[in-house]
Amino acid sequence: MASLVVDTGAAGREAVYEATLHGLQADPKALPTIWLYDERGSRLYERITRLPEYYLPRSEDEILRARAPEIARLTQASMLAELGAGSANNTRLLLDTLGAFGTLERFVPLDVSGQALQASAQTIAAAYPRIAVEAIVGDFERDLGLLPRGGRRLIAFLGSTIGNLYPDQRATLLTDLAAELEPHDSLLLGIDLVKDAARLQAAYNDPQGVTEAFVRNALTAVNLELDATFEQQRFAYEARWDPEEEWMDIGFRAREAHTVSLSRLGLELAFEEAEALRVEISSKFRRERFEHEAATAGLRVASWWTDHAGDFAVALLVRERIAGS
Ligand SMILES: C[S@@+](CC[C@H](N)C(=O)[O-])C[C@H]1O[C@@H](n2cnc3c(N)ncnc32)[C@H](O)[C@@H]1O
Repeated sequence: MASLVVDTGAAGREAVYEATLHGLQADPKALPTIWLYDERGSRLYERITRLPEYYLPRSEDEILRARAPEIARLTQASMLAELGAGSANNTRLLLDTLGAFGTLERFVPLDVSGQALQASAQTIAAAYPRIAVEAIVGDFERDLGLLPRGGRRLIAFLGSTIGNLYPDQRATLLTDLAAELEPHDSLLLGIDLVKDAARLQAAYNDPQGVTEAFVRNALTAVNLELDATFEQQRFAYEARWDPEEEWMDIGFRAREAHTVSLSRLGLELAFEEAEALRVEISSKFRRERFEHEAATAGLRVASWWTDHAGDFAVALLVRERIAGS
């Protein structure tokens, strides 16, 4: 049986509304990524992971398949926590190997998408009866303190979700994670790497339009929850590689000048023709720069593994020891 140990509920939504108000008043206008993951969005994301163009989950799977025994030996984890767990598909490779290694007792998935999380926690609990599954509905940017303490913890953050954070958010999360890690804990990150722009753009512009439907669903979710008036036909989907920022910039352009109201936020939002509305970024990384970022946050990259094509990396990080401690 899976148990839902914490649900941050209404307090979490208030923070999302505040971030939405802030994001829509920024330049460029942006919706927080969290709007992508209501129940329908989580189901659409699952379809994206099976698209031939969306190489990320398969590259990560290849690495975890090859390296899970090494990860089990290095971490000897008694608890596996997963941030943004979603369906926890690739996590099963870790659960299998850590379970067989004999150290694992608990799995703690944390995700903001409550229904998707509960469904995946039940499925995992049924498949792994010897492991206690304790789900947390929460926001990894605010709720790291809800993770249980004790034992040797492995905190996984897979699927390149870290790339969806802006650099300042990412720096804060890495710093918070460094503060959360005890000396025997480790952090496992799935990271997408910089590559040919055409392949990157193809990954977010599939011909079936599943990714577009996923991103459009954020507008539907905002309309429903915030009494907003986004009209799909007034926005054209756009996902393009930004070579300066080294991220995919994913969202819309207004087809014409018009105004959208968000009654619940008391906001009237004027769009000019061709103005951008960003819904998500997906940053792509380079090893050296990432190691530097991690070090600035107080983390050391202990292992760095890539798939055979060099498309994706899985990094194992530990808290940097402070001299004299
Ligand atoms: C890119 S998907 C990855 C899902 C899964 N880890 C995988 O690799 O297939 C991002 C996941 O993070 C969750 N998520 C996004 N923002 C979040 C936040 N701020 N706090 C907690 N979960 C979040 C979403 O609900 C979704 O399940």
